[in-house]
Amino acid sequence: MDRYAVFGNPVKHSRSPWIHARFAQQTGQILTYTAEEIPLDQFDTHVLEFFSSGGFGLNITVPFKEKAWALCDVHSAFAAKAGAVNTLLRNSDGRLCGDNTDGIGLLRDITRNHQGVVVGKSVLLIGAGGAVRGVLPSLLAESPGSITIVNRTVARAQDLVSQFDTQIELKPAGYDDLAGRTFDLIINGTSAGLQGDLPPVPRSIVSTDTWCYDMVYGRGDTVFQAWARQCGAAKALDGVGMLVEQAAQSFFLWRGVRPDTVPVIAALRQELGSQI
Ligand code: ATR
Repeated sequence: MDRYAVFGNPVKHSRSPWIHARFAQQTGQILTYTAEEIPLDQFDTHVLEFFSSGGFGLNITVPFKEKAWALCDVHSAFAAKAGAVNTLLRNSDGRLCGDNTDGIGLLRDITRNHQGVVVGKSVLLIGAGGAVRGVLPSLLAESPGSITIVNRTVARAQDLVSQFDTQIELKPAGYDDLAGRTFDLIINGTSAGLQGDLPPVPRSIVSTDTWCYDMVYGRGDTVFQAWARQCGAAKALDGVGMLVEQAAQSFFLWRGVRPDTVPVIAALRQELGSQI
């Protein structure tokens, strides 16, 4: 059987095997997909061994996305700019190719699943780590009116902005700079929620037209989603749809078949007991 896996550390809570099993069932593709916890200092060896022993494709998750990028012979345009890879495959010459489907996943969830508009809108990205870097090329390609990247460590936001050459207004900010401003779309890309924290964003940045999106998900509302609802946001979304959409794009790159994500998102929500 064609072999696929997700490599991460930790990885045991990954939903990817569950999602890809549903995609395979739905599209009649015969494959296996497992989650493998890789020791932190053995990533390269395990990837090379996976492919040399006949593996077909890998997803890469925390904390290996930058290492995966460094290991690739070829990068897709989005992966090249993101500096991070979440999907690996071999091309017809046997070279290791890296793509990043996180940004496409985020954009598909916002624009197709929720009929949101990004074109021309003011976007606030919260955080300047790997998660934000991974989605920034796709967001810029969607032609928003502006993107502000706010981060606790402002120098990291400045550094990220300086690496992108774009016609779109792209600016770094500190949390204190947000006073008196509102945004059309606010995306939380920090890891604060994993510790039950909220990034220190003022409530005044949310208007009744603002869409709020948390790139993470959990059982029920995330901390950021709950905050967005309290602020009266037009929408308060979590990252379940993004997770399934990025997986669908990886599946398409590997198999050339596009699964229907709608029933898989619904089933995953049921598993998680969350509602939108
Ligand atoms: P990831 O790959 O998940 O993006 P990361 O590269 O470690 O992980 O980045 C984590 C992001 O969450 C950073 O933007 C971090 O802010 P700093 O760069 O200032 O550290 C942000 N973050 C984590 N905990 C936070 C908190 N409690 N409040 C605000 N920002 C937080």
